[in-house]
Amino acid sequence: MPKVVAIHSFHSGAGKSLIAANLAALLSLQGNRVGLLDGNLLSPNLHTTFRISESEIAHPFTDYLHGRSSIKDTVLDVTPYAADDVGGRLFLLPNLPQNSPLNGLDAKLLIDGFRELFHSLRLNTLVLDVGAGLSPITLPFLAIAEALLLVSRLDQDDLQGTGVAIDIARKLEIPMLLLLINRVDHSFDSSQVKSQVEKAYGCEVATVLPDVSDVAPSSSNLFALTYPNHPFTLKLRHLGERVAK
Ligand SMILES: Nc1ncnc2c1ncn2[C@@H]1O[C@H](COP(=O)(O)OP(=O)(O)OP(=O)(O)O)[C@@H](O)[C@H]1O
Ligand SMILES: [Mg+2]
Repeated sequence: MPKVVAIHSFHSGAGKSLIAANLAALLSLQGNRVGLLDGNLLSPNLHTTFRISESEIAHPFTDYLHGRSSIKDTVLDVTPYAADDVGGRLFLLPNLPQNSPLNGLDAKLLIDGFRELFHSLRLNTLVLDVGAGLSPITLPFLAIAEALLLVSRLDQDDLQGTGVAIDIARKLEIPMLLLLINRVDHSFDSSQVKSQVEKAYGCEVATVLPDVSDVAPSSSNLFALTYPNHPFTLKLRHLGERVAK
């Protein structure tokens, strides 16, 4: 099983946070002990999915990066939102917008912190919701991931940026690299989308996720728990099984 699963997109708004939160919740529902890190250092918002207010976050993850707290002190147990009846656990490492944003990330600090988390929380998987773009505050997350899920919408701009991210990911030699095409209109044939994108970008498309705004226009809750049998949820669950194998 890959331990660290990074979810990234070249452009913002591709659906990383929605996918990260739901994938992590589904993995915990399958009995895994899962960590979910809000690694979007510029516009963190994963806590809102779990209805956690800023005042409830004593130590955002960046406190660990600044040496102001241990990594364990940044963890909130959000299991009751997802998985408390099946033996899995879900731990959120939330983040808050910073007054003085970091210019870069120390990969060794990340590795040391994650190692401690795997040990102390007995995690199976750590899902990273990484900020958009290729920069010193996103690349170190990708470099240490064992699986990278690159999220793209089906428009030319997003796909071109995703092509750049694929090239970088190949150079980083990430063991598992998969594309996720998100927010695809129901009128499109998923298998055709998959084969056309694979042909154009030379990278496996793991899944083609439908646009669900007709079901939950601006839901900030966990879609997969509200709609366990929706194709969006079934496809993400299948992806989780593959990533967690
Ligand atoms: N499959 C989908 N169907 C409908 N709406 C979606 C889907 N995926 C994402 N969205 C919506 O698109 C918006 C952007 O999604 P999200 O915040 O997850 O993107 P992001 O990649 O994390 O953005 P950022 O780069 O700003 O962190 C949100 O309002 C989200 O609910
Ligand atoms: Mg996000």
